[in-house]
Amino acid sequence: MTQPSEGSSKLWGGRFSGETDALVEMFNASIDFDRRLYAEDIEGSIAHAGMLAAQGIISTADRDTVIAGLEAIRAEIDAGTFAFRLDREDIHLNIEAALIERVGDAGRRLHTARSRNDQVATDTRLHTRAACDAIVEALRALRAAFLDLAEREAATAMPGYTHLQRAQPILLAHHLQAYEAMLARDTERFTQARARANVLPLGAGALAGVTYPIDREAVARALGFDGVAENSLDAVSDRDFVVDVHAAAALAMVHLSRFAEEVILWATAEFGFLRLDDRYSTGSSIMPQKKNPDVAELTRGKSARVIGNLVQALTMLKGQPLAYNKDNQEDKESLFDTIDTLLVCLRVTTGMLPTMTFDRERMRAAAFANFALATDIADYLAKKGVPFRDAHEAVGALVARCEREGRTFEDLSLEDYQLAHSSFESDVLAIDLDAALAARDVPGGTAPKRVTEARAAARARLAAETSRPR
Ligand code: ARG
Repeated sequence: MTQPSEGSSKLWGGRFSGETDALVEMFNASIDFDRRLYAEDIEGSIAHAGMLAAQGIISTADRDTVIAGLEAIRAEIDAGTFAFRLDREDIHLNIEAALIERVGDAGRRLHTARSRNDQVATDTRLHTRAACDAIVEALRALRAAFLDLAEREAATAMPGYTHLQRAQPILLAHHLQAYEAMLARDTERFTQARARANVLPLGAGALAGVTYPIDREAVARALGFDGVAENSLDAVSDRDFVVDVHAAAALAMVHLSRFAEEVILWATAEFGFLRLDDRYSTGSSIMPQKKNPDVAELTRGKSARVIGNLVQALTMLKGQPLAYNKDNQEDKESLFDTIDTLLVCLRVTTGMLPTMTFDRERMRAAAFANFALATDIADYLAKKGVPFRDAHEAVGALVARCEREGRTFEDLSLEDYQLAHSSFESDVLAIDLDAALAARDVPGGTAPKRVTEARAAARARLAAETSRPR
């Protein structure tokens, strides 16, 4: 039995005679954060040991000893009784050293035909795969919540905006369903990210492959991977799957942040469109009247760190020569942070949606105030044969006149309209909010019947996704 040489108790200590500097030991260690990979590390080691025995590289007795030892360690970590050690650097060495302490020589055989480089890549991919599944589930729950809220508010009208200026009336449901559409694309991105992550690096060894007759396909099958990484150098150094998650998460957070911004605006006295439930707002310690949209503000604020994490991961990678470099240890904290942040934001937004109440009367009044029906009145003229540019000009002049005189479209008589353009007839007076909404009767438009159809289609898509096996 080979013992580490004197002067070092490290599993890699054979060629060392001096101790690691204390600060370097701390600097080098990742156990404080990568302990989060313990279940994946143990799962990967069990699959590796099973394959080594099946290939006759270790005995079946050693395999059984190793697996029992790993399971005992997993139980200890689950129970919170495992003593993680900083001098054992990372999760891989903590578990391996504990295994050796527990079962001796059999444990010392586990690392045959394996390197920490392909090991950590495997663990991180397993973790990423599970995270993608959790995120997809949370995205689907949020999409369902948006559709439910849209259903509840099916008859609520509101002003649609461009440049944050009232533009044309829309249905609140249409607005909410726009977010469902964004989140459906996010779901697709995480599904694709999962597929790219789900490839096995083990077998690449440190960088060049290993000298044993291993069976990579068997390990891939045991761990639920779709295939094996084709190039050993790429296998140990590739963190594209991490960047995929950051990129998809950053965009999903941008979507959540845009919605959060609308919640914040709509909850102001200035807009007055919505009231937040007590469970989803907080008070001020000095101003007794305040009710703050903290949940939405934090979601908006947290999008910054997720975007930052994407930039961190890209920057960490861009200077690295092939193959593995220790830089890659820096992939984990930001990855965990992005996963945690996105998941909590998705869940808290899902919880908040059904608790929001809208001031439907105020939204309806705002929907046609400020000449929001001007496009409909110009369209009316154009449909009578007036070139649209002329119609636009005539209605523009009418708006200007109303503004000068302190009047709205509702105050105008047929004569007023005819003064603006001779093609106006009495049916112009029938143009109102409901007519304007119903008129946008094109696929993707805000006509109530189209919005209802779109919601049904979104529900069907969601149901099909949920029932389809991966
Ligand atoms: N803790 C390391 C990481 O997170 C594990 C791999 C280290 N490999 C090595 N040869 N030092 O990337």
